[in-house]
Amino acid sequence: MTSIRQALNVEDVRTIARHRLPRAIFEVIEGGHGEETTLAANRADLNRIKLIPRNLEDASFPDLSTTLLGREVAMPFMLAPCSFGRIADPEAERAVARAASNFGIGYIMPGAASESIERVAEGQFLGIVANRVCFRSVS
Ligand SMILES: Cc1cc2nc3c(=O)[nH]c(=O)nc-3n(C[C@H](O)[C@H](O)[C@H](O)COP(=O)(O)O)c2cc1C
Repeated sequence: MTSIRQALNVEDVRTIARHRLPRAIFEVIEGGHGEETTLAANRADLNRIKLIPRNLEDASFPDLSTTLLGREVAMPFMLAPCSFGRIADPEAERAVARAASNFGIGYIMPGAASESIERVAEGQFLGIVANRVCFRSVS
């Protein structure tokens, strides 16, 4: 599988990324920090969530829309902030923000973005939520 359009789940996306990206960059994005304990805990928590099918419901026009920060969104999701976007794509955060906008959801601007917040926000229907991390010098 080489096209993102053929991907059916996160595992398929991971396989495509593994083939497309240089190994070191794939591992930065794919891995967790240190012993990867939080990554394992998050995976375990997500695996505990089961889908509860609602039988005999009309699913012809599923509507997941809701409001977030006072704005209507298509789904109750936002795309998480990932700094250094240019390591994976020359368009960096602009491409991610555009994808979020195309799907009618929000995007959280990362703390160490490769692009300015003004450029990333251009053309966004929802606007973006800024993510700021404060660093303190320990030297
Ligand atoms: C390369 C990279 C950069 C990230 N940059 C930020 C950031 O700037 N701000 C932030 O709050 N989280 C950042 N994260 C964390 C992600 O937003 C996300 O919370 C984390 O990857 C866990 O994802 P998951 O919820 O899919 O397990 C970054 C993650 C990666 C892999």
